Amino acid sequence: MTSNTNPPDLAAGYPAGDLQDGRMIQGRVGDEDVILARHKDEFFAVGAGCTHYHGPLAEGLIVGDELRCPLHHACFSLRTGRALCAPAFDAIPRWRVERVGDLVFVREKHPAPAPYPEAGTPKPPNSPTSVVIVGGGAAALATAETLRRKAYDGPLTIISADDSAPYDRPNVSKDYLQEPIPDEWMNLRVPEFYKEQKIDIVLNSRVSSIDPRQKQVRLEDGRTFSFGALLLATGAEVIKLPIPGARESEIFYVRTWSDARAIFKRAESAKRVVVVGASFIGLEVAASLRSRGLHVQVVAVENQPFERTLGAEVGQFFRGLHESHGVTFHLGKTVTGMDGNQVLLNDGAKLAADFLVLGVGVRPCVSLAEPAGLKLDRGVVVNEYLETSVPGIFAAGDIARWPDPHSGRQIRVEHWVVAERQGQVAARNILGFREPYDAVPFFWTQQFGVALKYVGHAETWDGVEIEGSLEAHDCAVRYQQNGKTLAVATIGRDVQSLKFQADQEASLRAEPRATGAKHS
Ligand SMILES: Cc1cc2nc3c(=O)[nH]c(=O)nc-3n(C[C@H](O)[C@H](O)[C@H](O)COP(=O)(O)OP(=O)(O)OC[C@H]3O[C@@H](n4cnc5c(N)ncnc54)[C@H](O)[C@@H]3O)c2cc1C
Ligand code: FES
Repeated sequence: MTSNTNPPDLAAGYPAGDLQDGRMIQGRVGDEDVILARHKDEFFAVGAGCTHYHGPLAEGLIVGDELRCPLHHACFSLRTGRALCAPAFDAIPRWRVERVGDLVFVREKHPAPAPYPEAGTPKPPNSPTSVVIVGGGAAALATAETLRRKAYDGPLTIISADDSAPYDRPNVSKDYLQEPIPDEWMNLRVPEFYKEQKIDIVLNSRVSSIDPRQKQVRLEDGRTFSFGALLLATGAEVIKLPIPGARESEIFYVRTWSDARAIFKRAESAKRVVVVGASFIGLEVAASLRSRGLHVQVVAVENQPFERTLGAEVGQFFRGLHESHGVTFHLGKTVTGMDGNQVLLNDGAKLAADFLVLGVGVRPCVSLAEPAGLKLDRGVVVNEYLETSVPGIFAAGDIARWPDPHSGRQIRVEHWVVAERQGQVAARNILGFREPYDAVPFFWTQQFGVALKYVGHAETWDGVEIEGSLEAHDCAVRYQQNGKTLAVATIGRDVQSLKFQADQEASLRAEPRATGAKHS
C-alpha cells in the first residue's frame, strides 16, 4: 500500500500515474474509507474494511484483480466486490471509477448486488433432489451458503449435534474467554439467514448412521432424512483424559461454544487454573485466562510448545511470551491425578488449582463413515473434488484427507479457513462444477496479542530459516525440505504471508498438478 497519513479525497481525483500496477491507496469518499486499486490499466474503488473481522484491506495484497485481507487471507474480487474465498462471505462495497485525463475520480457507490443467488451465476450442471449436511460447523455453513449462492434451490438441511447454529469456533479459546462478548459476535449468521435461505437447521440432533444405498441418514432419535447428495462435515472431537480423583465439575474441555460458556463462568469465581496440553488451543486458553487475571500453569508432555508443528525456536518464543505474562510451564510432565485442590504430576509435584482445562488433542469424527463404506485413512479419504469413495457423498473440514497438489501428499488439517474453503468447493462440486480443491492451507493463532499466520503444510522438515526477529514480533520462518520451502510462518509480516500463498498458487498453475488421486 502507498502510505498516507492524510487520506486523500478520492472523489476529488487522484493522479493515475501515482498508482502503479498492483498497488492501492486508502482514501475517503464522503465519510467512507475507500481503497483505490490498480490492476494493469484498470482502476477499482472498493470498501476498506474486510467483511470478516474488519481487517484493514489496504494493508493486504492485490493479486491480479483480487484483493486479499492481511488478517486471515479472505479474498475479494476488485471487479464485483464479491467475497471469493472464506473466511469472508459478504461482499465489500464498490464505487464507480472514472478516468479523466491524468486523474482518476471515484464517483457514486454501486448498489449492493443480490448475493443469493449471485447475479450471473451459471445454471448448475447438477441439481440434487435434496442436500443433507451432517455437521453444523465451519465446513457445513460454507457449503450451505455456497449452494444457495450458486442457485441451488432444492431442499437443504443441516443436521448438527451442537446446540447452536454455526458459530465462530476459533473465538471459543480467544476473545470469548477473555471478556463478555455479545452472541452476535459468535453467530456466523443471524437466525433470519437460515429462514430466508430456506436452510432447514436441525440442532441438538446426532446422526447415528448413513445408508448410502437408500440415500438416507438416521438420527439417534430415530428420525430419517433422505438425500440426493450428502456432505459429511462432522469435524473433530476432543480426546478425553481420565484424571483419577478429579470431580467432573473440575474438568473442562474446549471445543464448543457451550464449553467456552462453562469455562468463562467457572473462571469468574476461580483464582487458579491448570491447563493440560501446550497445543494451540491449550495455550490460547492459557493466554485468555491469564489476561483475566487467573494464575495459570501449563502442564504438557512435550518439551516445548508447538515443537512438532512450528519447531523449537518458535515454541521457545511462545513459551517466553507466556512466561513474560506470568504463565508457569511444567513441560515434559504428565498429570497423574487430583487430590482435593491439588493437581498431581508424575514427578511428585503438586499444583494448586480450582479447575483444569484439558487441551490434549482431538480426533476426527469418522464413526459414521466406516459403517457407510467410505474409505478411511486417518480421516475420510476424498478425491480432488472432495468426493468420498462413495459417489454423491462429499466430505470437508477436519475429517477430510485430500490430495494436496502443493505438497503432493494426502493431507488432513484442522484449520478454520481450510474447512470453510473446502465447504465452498464441495458445494460447487455437489452442483457438478468439477472444481478441484487446490487452496494453499492457512491457519492463524493469537496469544497475548501476538498473531502468527501459517501458510503451507510441513509435517516434517530438514531446515528452518528465520528471517527477522521473533522477539521483535517481526519475522518469517521458513520450513524447508531438500531446499524447497514447504510452509512459512510469519509474525508481523502479513504481506509476506500473503505473497507466499500467492507464489504457491502461481507455481501450481505453472506446473502440472503434483497429485491428482481419483477414486476409481
Ligand atoms: C477452540 C478452538 C479454537 C480454534 N482456533 C483456530 C484458529 O485460530 N485458527 C484455525 O485455523 N483453526 C482454529 N481451530 C480449528 C477450527 O475451528 C476447525 O478446523 C474447524 O472448526 C473445522 O471445521 P469443521 O466444519 O470440519 O468441523 P466443526 O467446526 O468442528 O464442526 C463439526 C460439526 O459436526 C457436528 N457433528 C459431529 N458429529 C455429528 C453427528 N454424528 N451428527 C450430527 N452432527 C455432528 C458437531 O456438533 C459440529 O457442529 C480452532 C478449534 C477450536 C476447537
Ligand atoms: S479480517 Fe479479513 S479475513 Fe479475517
